Amino acid sequence: MLTSLYVLLVVTAVCAGVPEDTKRMMDHLSDAEHFKNDHHNKQFDHEAFLGEDQAKTFDQLPPEESKRRLGELIVDKIDVDGDGFVTLVELKDWIRYTQKRYIEEDVERHWKQHNPQGAETIPWETYQKNVYGFMEEMSPAELTAPNSEGFTYSNLRKRDRRRWTYADGDADDALNRTEFASFLHPEDHPNMRDIVVLETLEDIDKDKDGKVSLEEYIGDMYQAEEGEEEEPDWVKQEREQFTGYRDTNKDGHMDANEVKDWIAPPEFDHAEAEARHLVFEADGDADERLTKPEILDKYDLFVGSQATDFGEALARHDEF
Ligand SMILES: *[C@@H]1O[C@H](CO)[C@@H](O)[C@H](O)[C@H]1NC(C)=O
Repeated sequence: MLTSLYVLLVVTAVCAGVPEDTKRMMDHLSDAEHFKNDHHNKQFDHEAFLGEDQAKTFDQLPPEESKRRLGELIVDKIDVDGDGFVTLVELKDWIRYTQKRYIEEDVERHWKQHNPQGAETIPWETYQKNVYGFMEEMSPAELTAPNSEGFTYSNLRKRDRRRWTYADGDADDALNRTEFASFLHPEDHPNMRDIVVLETLEDIDKDKDGKVSLEEYIGDMYQAEEGEEEEPDWVKQEREQFTGYRDTNKDGHMDANEVKDWIAPPEFDHAEAEARHLVFEADGDADERLTKPEILDKYDLFVGSQATDFGEALARHDEF
């Protein structure tokens, strides 16, 4: 069953033009990883389609209710011209709209949380007290103990501090709402591109030599499971991608410029790529439009429900 799923994914990736791992890309649609160790992560699609907050709401619903709300969304919001078909363009516009809405609500929530008095700006001191105040109580050992991702509290604060300074266009060490939005969602702000590139590079560069080796690149998206003898084909393809494509100057590493071309390629449209992926998955005849029954038939591709979560728990159990 996993094999056929895998074949499907590769076909999807090729036909629909969806890269295996879009999490690293700027302006990405969800922090969930779309493909991890060749398992298709439905949560990625759900968050892209609904926005992170709505995706969570749907996850709590019984399947029939989840389907019913999806049906309403299609008719009321997505099929804008009401012709009974959801076209690629309508789907793309919808995904763009939900992402924008999610980001705006997220910024508003955090802005109010750190600035309950409604001041013009939030000073770094205020923000760092709210977010990192607990660090004052910690011992040096606790501050520098790495978590499972290799981060320490000290690193995280430093990184936030650097990003803050970067977002602080007028350099008064306080962020107004616009600056705060780019601090919180730098992937959504072209002027923050260099800091996103730097943070990405640092995440992947485990040996901290300032560049990404092939093994670091692969290690970021794939870890061999115990007993696994041969790498899956998609990992081999990623190796070829690295050598043939990402490492443009052929020195065996990706430097900051090459990371930039990878995560922020000009012209790449995430909403369109995701719309193509969803259409491809739900529509056998690939006429670039979906009917309501086609969508409802594949409702667990678009939205979650208690049943999908239950099903995924079962599927996970099945693999052991
Ligand atoms: C925030 O400050 C920037 C300069 O860093 C300025 O361009 C922008 O208009 C300001 N935004 C608001 C909402 O005041």
